[in-house]
Amino acid sequence: MKVFGGSANIKLAKLIADEMGLPLSQIETHIFPDGEKRIRIIEPVVDEHCVVVQPTSTPADQNYMELFFIVDALKRSGASQVTAVVPYLGYQRQDHIFRDGEAVSLEVVVKTLEAVGTDNVIAVDFHSIKIPEVFKIPVTHLSALPLFAKKIKEEKIGNGDGVLISPDMGGIRRIKILSDLLDGMPYGAIEKDRDLITGSVEAKDMELHGITDVKGKTAIIVDDMISSGGTIVKAVDLLKEKGFAKIYVFATHAVFSQNAPTLLMDSSIEKVFVTNSVLVPADRKFPKLEIISLAEMITETLQNK
Ligand code: R5P
Repeated sequence: MKVFGGSANIKLAKLIADEMGLPLSQIETHIFPDGEKRIRIIEPVVDEHCVVVQPTSTPADQNYMELFFIVDALKRSGASQVTAVVPYLGYQRQDHIFRDGEAVSLEVVVKTLEAVGTDNVIAVDFHSIKIPEVFKIPVTHLSALPLFAKKIKEEKIGNGDGVLISPDMGGIRRIKILSDLLDGMPYGAIEKDRDLITGSVEAKDMELHGITDVKGKTAIIVDDMISSGGTIVKAVDLLKEKGFAKIYVFATHAVFSQNAPTLLMDSSIEKVFVTNSVLVPADRKFPKLEIISLAEMITETLQNK
């Protein structure tokens, strides 16, 4: 097996290669003056199972193109199998038509990934459990929830007074799984409304399971991703209004668009836990942020392939 990394998260690719006891295989990338990329595989890959690590986070279009080119180059160079490790799959939120006339962007990128010869995909915490159905090739869908449960237990977050909160109704399945991993911790979900044109978010009300009075309790918000930070900040306002004393946040994908790091840092959140599915550059990190590595989990999955 050989492990390659695209430019979106070379750090994670290196961690995975290290876990496997392999050197990170090299890719030669030339960027032309107009921004186009030329990708070249510079080591023999004939009959090799090659792994490409490339989340398709911001800039999604560029990261997707680079991934397509790397897979194409590997297949043309004789790789017997290519596994794309795409811990964060860009465009997954546009998995269906919300309003007449829209493109189903997720289907477009998945078809292209298949067309260039990807044999299988490993991804982490899709936005919806129906996403694997979009693929014709095998998809291994990993979840960071067991890592979150471990961290919550280790750090005794909400020990005896914790309530898991999904910031929208769509995330209730995720919260129930985590509640089971945490010996039935009570949980709730917020009724969220997003304006499809402006993207602005409103946290309307909250439903609770296994608890009625949340005054003085610890809320643990769990989401698949933080992009603008709007969903989390609105959820925090509502939770404070309902009487929670402390709020922690766990989200798999630190997409962190716009001024999300500042919004999170300036909020009353105690701490924000994310994974390294998306690379957070040094200037987007903030003191309340802790990053949990997916490298071991992804490596174990690769070793069983
Ligand atoms: C939405 O359904 C997702 O689960 C996230 O809550 C959302 O994508 C986060 O986006 P933002 O941070 O921009 O509110």
